[in-house]
Amino acid sequence: MSPRLPVARRLTRQVRPVPAEAAGSPSRTVPVISVRGVRKSYGVGEAAVHALRGPDDPAGGGPLGVSVDVEQGDFVAVMGSSGSGKSTLMNILGCLDVPTSGRYLLDGIDVGHLDEHQLSLVRNRKIGFIFQSFNLVPRTTALAQVELPLAYAGVRAAERRRRAVAALSMVGLGDRLDHRPNELSGGQQQRVAVARALVTSPAMLLADEPTGNLDSRSTDEVLAMVDRLNAAGRTVVLITHEDEVARHAKRVLRLVDGRIVSDVRQGPVAGPPPVFAGAEPVVGAVASGGGR
Ligand SMILES: Nc1ncnc2c1ncn2[C@@H]1O[C@H](COP(=O)(O)OP(=O)(O)OP(=O)(O)O)[C@@H](O)[C@H]1O
Ligand SMILES: [Mg+2]
Repeated sequence: MSPRLPVARRLTRQVRPVPAEAAGSPSRTVPVISVRGVRKSYGVGEAAVHALRGPDDPAGGGPLGVSVDVEQGDFVAVMGSSGSGKSTLMNILGCLDVPTSGRYLLDGIDVGHLDEHQLSLVRNRKIGFIFQSFNLVPRTTALAQVELPLAYAGVRAAERRRRAVAALSMVGLGDRLDHRPNELSGGQQQRVAVARALVTSPAMLLADEPTGNLDSRSTDEVLAMVDRLNAAGRTVVLITHEDEVARHAKRVLRLVDGRIVSDVRQGPVAGPPPVFAGAEPVVGAVASGGGR
């Protein structure tokens, strides 16, 4: 029996959009992310860079690799200085890169056993990505950008349009559907990227410095949206240099030279994220963020 088809079918079944309540269900026991002894090295021999290495084996057996679990519904900020391994970790979590050694289980599935096709299914159905540089397609309307992941997922045209319009309206860009990236402000471009990340209803949002190129007002708007998505049950892993951004997370991991050196909980996994809690004006700000 080919191992490929059953896994692909299982993924297709598992990765259907999860209602927010179900995504945040406390009855869940498998961590959405389980990283076990993951190491990532670039290059070989003397010139090798050990971007992720974890603690050293006390018995002298070399680095043990990074191990971390993330529960469904958690909001984790990953901090650390430049070169500490944050993007390397995020690329592995997002199935954009593979570890040199160790295991990564995403929703209980060992992604090390998946082929390229299955990995692209996982990325498309389970994960929403937001990058510092927006990564929008040039000369393409906001609507088409947000429809794209749905097209990859095989959603029919009318449904695609309906969901993309809803996602863009949710990020306050309902009146910018036909605007191309060069016709949008940085904050608006990042909000298109947020709409694109959430339109497939992924269980997990991965964001690498999503506010790194934004002014403080756009930063607040984008963070309010991330807060709202987490409050609705999405798991969020967000890389940032800024304490102000990390304040929004329920848990903060700090990396130094490819090792997790601290892991601090700022709020319980269940319930809304810390800044969002009781902060109705934040929701109001998102809702009124439209017309600009
Ligand atoms: N493709 C690559 N080839 C070789 N070395 C790499 C590669 N990608 C990353 N590195 C090295 O791995 C280490 C970790 O890089 P990484 O991009 O994960 O850092 P980071 O914490 O995201 O930094 P920043 O805050 O600057 O984005 C760095 O020393 C970097 O030079
Ligand atoms: Mg980086």
